[in-house]
Amino acid sequence: MLLHIKQVLGRDELRTARAILDRAPWGDGRVTAGVQSALTKNNEQLDQQGEASKALQPIVLQGLNRHMGFFSAALPKRVFPPLFNRYGGTANAFGNHVDNAVRFIPGTLGERVRTDISCTLFLADPDDYDGGELVIEDTFGAQSVKLPAGDLVLYPGTSVHRVEPVTRGHRVASFFWVESMVRSDEQRRLLYDMDRHLMHLRGTVGESDPGVIGLTGLYHNLLRAWADM
Ligand code: NI
Repeated sequence: MLLHIKQVLGRDELRTARAILDRAPWGDGRVTAGVQSALTKNNEQLDQQGEASKALQPIVLQGLNRHMGFFSAALPKRVFPPLFNRYGGTANAFGNHVDNAVRFIPGTLGERVRTDISCTLFLADPDDYDGGELVIEDTFGAQSVKLPAGDLVLYPGTSVHRVEPVTRGHRVASFFWVESMVRSDEQRRLLYDMDRHLMHLRGTVGESDPGVIGLTGLYHNLLRAWADM
């Protein structure tokens, strides 16, 4: 499932994040790449454990925590501490690659996240740069994604993807992975669709309609059956 999640961050949070990002010391992005992806990766990243990352991570995580749409779509069990990257100038692209299936969380005693879902949270205004589309190879063909600042794209961790060259300005984003309570992309999609339709029904026929109550129970029973905590 490839999904556009709108307004994960508000205007004030974006302003704060951008102020930190503008002053931050950027380094070579290859530090977190595997051997294969390092060959095509040419961007900049913030030190995962540096001061700027530590200041930015809670802003992103708070945005995710309060967003009902993100919860419904991702059903998160563990979220990898968000990373931050920048594309522009001579470090401006990342060719086709796959993300590692398991990521170790730095600064922990071997805590791991299975990368069921990949996320990119756009932090730069699309008018501020040219190129930089995230292209995701999907069963429906290649999907090209470039979102407003504060919006997030969520896509299966299994997909081949790339970032097109940035030819003007800078593309700044946060990226991270989610290990979901529901491992199967197909089951997660069914639950997400059911939740969406239920929200619609609750708005039209009301919370106390017996059908709405029954279907809400069914949603939770399916989640209980499929969730792995
Ligand atoms: Ni990737």
